[in-house]
Amino acid sequence: MPHTLSDLLSERYGKNLAHLDFELNSTLETLLSHKSIRHYLDKPLPDGALELMIAAAQSAASSSNLQLWSVVAITNAERKQRLSELANNQSQITQAPLFLVWLADVSRLEKIMIKDNLDTQGLHQLDLFLIAIIDAALAAQNAVIAAEAQGYGTVYIGALRNNVARVSAELQLPNGVFPVFGLCVGYPNPEKKIGVKPRLSQESVLHKEVYQPNELAIDAYNDVMTTFYQQQKMNVEGTWAKHCSDRIQARATHSELQIFLENKFCKK
Ligand SMILES: Cc1cc2nc3c(=O)[nH]c(=O)nc-3n(C[C@H](O)[C@H](O)[C@H](O)COP(=O)(O)O)c2cc1C
Repeated sequence: MPHTLSDLLSERYGKNLAHLDFELNSTLETLLSHKSIRHYLDKPLPDGALELMIAAAQSAASSSNLQLWSVVAITNAERKQRLSELANNQSQITQAPLFLVWLADVSRLEKIMIKDNLDTQGLHQLDLFLIAIIDAALAAQNAVIAAEAQGYGTVYIGALRNNVARVSAELQLPNGVFPVFGLCVGYPNPEKKIGVKPRLSQESVLHKEVYQPNELAIDAYNDVMTTFYQQQKMNVEGTWAKHCSDRIQARATHSELQIFLENKFCKK
């Protein structure tokens, strides 16, 4: 278990970042220790845990304070089972005591504006959709940090979007509400040892003043990830880049999403 900032940074990058000589605090420790958890104990979260996560979520910044997001909290086993089936049968959804579906939501604001006889033009435009997605993502990530700070584990479930129409029907979502992703929350199963997944080196993502791609840093990351896949006994063939390509190809034919967005979100 790493206890210093230097240990946490080494784990995160698969190499030492000794020059970052700062004091470790609990916020940094939570952020730098993040790992997605896919195995949970059969144990409910304490009363109030959900509401504390939502308070953290609502504390995130929101574009123009429009607050264009909502969340559905699901604990019912049958509903979790149905949602799991709609998300490639991912068993973590049924295992986790709490499953949250984060929503981009312009429907609530539309109702409020109509009630007050205000002009709703523009609510169904692409820019508002992007704002709603960003708001939902920022809120969800704040909830993740709050959950992890309390010792719970989480994993996002983007695969819900594979069946966006059926997910919407299951959750009775009105027009103007889009399920962005799910989030499993629960106590991590301590028998499943999960490593911190290394990230691209900072040279790959951090550009100073102007954009400067660094191919060599990507090569080094491929090596770091190959070692990580082996250590974790993950069934990944080839490099990280090949893994990315495989994941992207699997989505390339996905047109249901576009039709759904045109019919239910971007069009009135
Ligand atoms: C928007 C989003 C959707 C994701 N969807 C899934 C998913 O459907 N199933 C899953 O097991 N993990 C999912 N993940 C988790 C990622 O696979 C994980 O964050 C990534 O591999 C990095 O690992 P780490 O979170 O342990 O650092 C998702 C993550 C994000 C941000």
